[in-house]
Amino acid sequence: MITHTISVAYNEVSDISELEEEDRELLKEAWEASESAYAPYSKFHVGAAVRLANTMTFRGNNQENGAYPSGICAERVAVFSASAMYPGVPITTIAVVAKTEVFKLSNPVTPCGACRQVISEYEMLSGQPIRILLQGNSGKIWILNGIENLLPLMFHGGELKK
Ligand code: THU
Repeated sequence: MITHTISVAYNEVSDISELEEEDRELLKEAWEASESAYAPYSKFHVGAAVRLANTMTFRGNNQENGAYPSGICAERVAVFSASAMYPGVPITTIAVVAKTEVFKLSNPVTPCGACRQVISEYEMLSGQPIRILLQGNSGKIWILNGIENLLPLMFHGGELKK
C-alpha cells in the first residue's frame, strides 16, 4: 500500500489594509451583498463577489427558502450570475464574507462542498487558478490561490468523457 499525502495552503492577513486595492474593493462588494441576503431561517448572512478577467464584478448572497434545500448559497448566486452574463470569461477572484446576527464568527467562513465543486468547474474551464478571499466578522482574511486548496482530489467533469 502507498500513502499519498496532499497539502493545502492559505495565507492570512489580520486586516483589510494589508490587501491590494482590487481585493479590498471585492471584499467591500461582498459585504454590501451580504446586507441584502435573504436568510430569515439561519440568520447567517453570506455575501460573495466575483471578479472576471474582463474586470466586471458580480455579486451574490444566500437565498433561503421555507423548503430548506431549495435555497442556494451566496457563492453560487455570484458565480452563476457571472457565467450567465459572460460565459467563458475567466473568474480571477471570488470574495466570500459572512456574519451572523446570533454570534461572532472567530474565523472566516469557508464555502460549502457544493460551492467548492461549482467553483472548480469554472477554474477548470479557464485553466487559471481562482483566488479565493474569505472573511468573517473577526476581521482576519484568508487568501487561497486555487480551488485545489479547498477541494483536493476534486471530481473533474472531463472524467465523464472518453
Ligand atoms: N451559506 C452560504 O451562502 N455559503 C456558504 O459557504 C455556507 C453557507 C448559506 C446557506 C444558508 O443560507 C446559510 O448560509 C446557512 O447554512
